[in-house]
Amino acid sequence: MAVKIGVVGSINLDLVASGAPLPAPGETVTGARFAQHPGGKGANQALAARRLGADVVMVGCVGDDTLAEPALAMLRAEAVDVSGVMFEVGVPTGVALIAVSPEGENQITVASGANAQVSERDAINLPMCDAVLCQLEVPIQAVIAAMAAEVERGLFAVNLAPAIEVPDSLLRLADLLIVNEIEAAFYGDALHAGKGLVALTLGGEGAVLYRAGVEVVRADAFDVAVVDTTGAGDTFCGALVLALAEGQGEADALRFASAAAALAVTKPGAQPSLPRREAVEILLAKG
Ligand code: RIB
Repeated sequence: MAVKIGVVGSINLDLVASGAPLPAPGETVTGARFAQHPGGKGANQALAARRLGADVVMVGCVGDDTLAEPALAMLRAEAVDVSGVMFEVGVPTGVALIAVSPEGENQITVASGANAQVSERDAINLPMCDAVLCQLEVPIQAVIAAMAAEVERGLFAVNLAPAIEVPDSLLRLADLLIVNEIEAAFYGDALHAGKGLVALTLGGEGAVLYRAGVEVVRADAFDVAVVDTTGAGDTFCGALVLALAEGQGEADALRFASAAAALAVTKPGAQPSLPRREAVEILLAKG
C-alpha cells in the first residue's frame, strides 16, 4: 500500500525567463525564453512525492484570481488531494519570478500573495498521514501547528527554505530537517540541537545525513547534464520523506532522493521536471 504524505506549503505560479545570463542588481538582460509552470516549494514537494508513489494531501492557499487554477493544474492532474486548499477572496495567487541562466542556475523572487494566509487551522486539518512535510514559504505558525499535530504520530519533516528565523522548538523537535549549504550556514549549530536527522544537500557534491551533528551516511551526486536546477531541492525533499516513510534505510533513502533530484535537473521547470519512480529506479540500477 502507498504511504500517505501530507504537505503544508506554498502554491505558486512560476513565470520563468530562461537562457539569458542572470542580471546583476540594476542590470537588464534580454534574449530569454518565457514559460509558465505551476510551482511553489510546497506544491513541488507534494507532486514530487506523488510521482514517486505516495498518496499525497496538500494544504495551502491560492487566490480567487485567474492564476489559481493554473497553479493547481498539475496537482489536480496527478490526483494530489487538494480539497484542503483554500481560495482566499480578494488576494492574489502566489507568483514566483524565476530567471534561469544558460548554465541552469536560477534566481527566484516570490510574491507570496495567498500563501501568507495559510493558518494553524488549515495545518491541523490534515488527515492522519505517515509523514508530514513543510517548508518556510507559509507562515511559521502553520508549520509549528503541523508539527504539534504530527510529531507524536508520524514522521515530521521540514525543509528550512527559504532560510528565516524560526522557533528553536522546530529545530529541536522535527524528525527530519532538510537544508542546502546556504540554509545550513544560516542556522549553524542550532540545526544539530535536536534528536532528528539533518539532510544537507551539496549540489554537485552529493548529500549527507547527520544525527546529533555526526555524519550518518553520504551519497555521491549522479553525473547528469544540468538544464535547470529549479525544483531539484524540492524533488530531494519529497523523495527523501517518501523513502523514509516507506521504511527504506537511511543510506538507501538518501541515494533514492539524490537520484530523484539528479533527474529533476535534466529538464526545464520545477513541476514539469519532477521524475517518476520508474525513472529513478532505472538511474539507481545504472549507478
Ligand atoms: O524551489 C523552487 C520553487 O521556489 C519554485 O517553484 C518557486 O515557486 C519558489 O517557490
